[in-house]
Amino acid sequence: MPARDSIKKEIESLRRQINHHIRLYHTEDAPEIPDADYDQLYDRLVELETQYPSLVTPESPTQRVGGTPLAEFSQVRHDTAMLSLNKVTNERELDDFDARVKKTLETDQPVQYNCEPKMDGVAVSLLYEHGLLARAATRGDGVVGEDITHNVKTIQCVPQQLDIGGIPSRFEVRGEIFLSKAGFAKINRDAEKAGTKTFVNPRNAAAGTMRQLDPRLASKRPLQMYCYSMVSGSSTHVLPDRLSEILDLLEGWGFPVNPRREVAIGIEPCHQYCLKLLNDRPGLEYEIDGAVIKVDELGLQREMGFTSRSPRWAIAYKFPAEEVSTKVLDVEFQVGRTGAVTPVARLKPVFVGGATVSNATLHNMDEVARLNLNVGDTVIIRRAGDVIPQVVKVIENIPNPSPKMVHAPKVCPACGSPVEKEGVVYRCSAGIICPAQKKESIRHFASRSAMDIEGLGEKLVGQLVDRNILGNVADIFLLEAPSLTELDRMGEKSSEKLVDAIEKSKHTTLAKFLYSLGVREIGEATAAALANYFGTLERIIAADEETLMAVPDVGAVVASHVHTFFSIEDNLALINRLRGLGVHWPDVKVAEHDRPLEGQTWVLTGSLDAMPRDEAKARLVVLGAKVAGSVSKKTSCVVAGPGAGSKLTKAEELNLKILAEDEFLAFLDTHKL
Ligand code: IVH
Repeated sequence: MPARDSIKKEIESLRRQINHHIRLYHTEDAPEIPDADYDQLYDRLVELETQYPSLVTPESPTQRVGGTPLAEFSQVRHDTAMLSLNKVTNERELDDFDARVKKTLETDQPVQYNCEPKMDGVAVSLLYEHGLLARAATRGDGVVGEDITHNVKTIQCVPQQLDIGGIPSRFEVRGEIFLSKAGFAKINRDAEKAGTKTFVNPRNAAAGTMRQLDPRLASKRPLQMYCYSMVSGSSTHVLPDRLSEILDLLEGWGFPVNPRREVAIGIEPCHQYCLKLLNDRPGLEYEIDGAVIKVDELGLQREMGFTSRSPRWAIAYKFPAEEVSTKVLDVEFQVGRTGAVTPVARLKPVFVGGATVSNATLHNMDEVARLNLNVGDTVIIRRAGDVIPQVVKVIENIPNPSPKMVHAPKVCPACGSPVEKEGVVYRCSAGIICPAQKKESIRHFASRSAMDIEGLGEKLVGQLVDRNILGNVADIFLLEAPSLTELDRMGEKSSEKLVDAIEKSKHTTLAKFLYSLGVREIGEATAAALANYFGTLERIIAADEETLMAVPDVGAVVASHVHTFFSIEDNLALINRLRGLGVHWPDVKVAEHDRPLEGQTWVLTGSLDAMPRDEAKARLVVLGAKVAGSVSKKTSCVVAGPGAGSKLTKAEELNLKILAEDEFLAFLDTHKL
């Protein structure tokens, strides 16, 4: 067993570090390290103090909750302390919690629980007196918090006044103030524009906002709140005796309550609740760090009571951290399908967001500069759901004894051709002859959402290109089983399987084929939109940029990439070769009534009161018309808004069909898609 002295030293060091991070987190809203790292320090301290209870001191951070209240705000003493929650991190520990609950309550019957998301925001207490929001306060150190009424009053969803009868004359509602992911992104975008400080995550942004003295700032930020409990109701007022019913009641009074709350009978459905919530986590509009499971019956809650820090009747089921710290071992450059040369951080492997991660994209050199990232730095990595891992920031106070600056390569790391700068992107100038670009475009072509050739993955494509067997995507359809068996890790069976998969892939859809071509900016959704709109590849090839822009979600940039791609002879030749080799797809049925103006040319003249001219034009193109700038014999119809001049005169001379604005609007109305 280590000497008591060294334990004491470790405890002291942990306390120093923890106090430092508590101050940064709670008082300055600018943490230096991810929560997971803080939790590690804290958990280690708890472990040591549990082993050596005589070393626990009243000043230890384990003996208090939250941070010190800020001096600038008036202080509020909570009627009932705002405590924190005990946590579990796996199913077994959740079962242990249930077992403890049953043991304390001396029951072997299933206990009814209330399950809710654990919001990652700022805890707040709202005090209502005679139906009016009298005071809002932060948790502070749990006993004394800060008065933030001025800021909370700016939050739209927090009721200021309750115009209903039958409510207690004085009661307190507690909950979490938070920013949605989108709201956070907007705040940071605005801060970047204004050149002011950006926030690390939505919780710090919400906490930082609550700590502003000037409420005008809070009023500009899209804060939200979910309420999760009600305390100190007046003794004369009869309230429901279950938490779930209290929450329904609060909702009825106009308080925002999380709609994802659920009642569970026994612990098994709580497991399922947690699992589903974890699964849904990436798609939620807000950040959560777990689920909270609470005994639903308030009588039983009272029976169980509290420890000094937390209630015995509740538990936080913490989800794997989405942010952790690790070290950058190197930065390498990867060449993508379109030649973009992207910096990628090679990391000391870490478990984050439920998976082990050893690479993170750095996007481009501007991002490397923004992060001020050097090889050897300790960084915060974020991985949420299936989104590729990102480097959030460099942890500044961890020394890097041998920083190595990251420089953009002058030549392509794959083929040695010069690299050209295009906006923020560095691009290999060699085009498809660059082996990396070739490999990536073939890999993309074969990928599941594209031609879906099972078994033709990164490694195999690499070998086939390196051995000059594949020069382009069409060569895939010439592959034969006997020659494949000569490759590494390819037996007879797998070779035959691959050839079968290639054969099968020849029958595809227009959307998949379009996507597989790897046109810049054409993702799956855009490929599907183009296929559905035009129905045939010929129509897409023939479309000009304006026509392409009539497709939902296709803007000028995408339209220009599509148009350019299909203007290049080599690309058209490749498509013909693929078709010659048997690649085929059915045309997509585009109902004729969807394009009633097919073959017609319309002209817009004068102004339109009801819509901008661009919109009118887009609506006509969607219906199949071409919209021209001048009137001729071939014009099918002229829309003449107020102030129409010479074009109208000419249309009248040519005896063309003319629609006034109201007639045009009526026409559009009857042709809504
Ligand atoms: S119940 C006695 N329910 O988590 C404590 N807390 O560690 C009662 N939190 O600061 C808390 N979502 O602000 C509860 N649905 C939820 C919560 C929640 C987030 C926060 C709370 C507190 C911390 C507890």
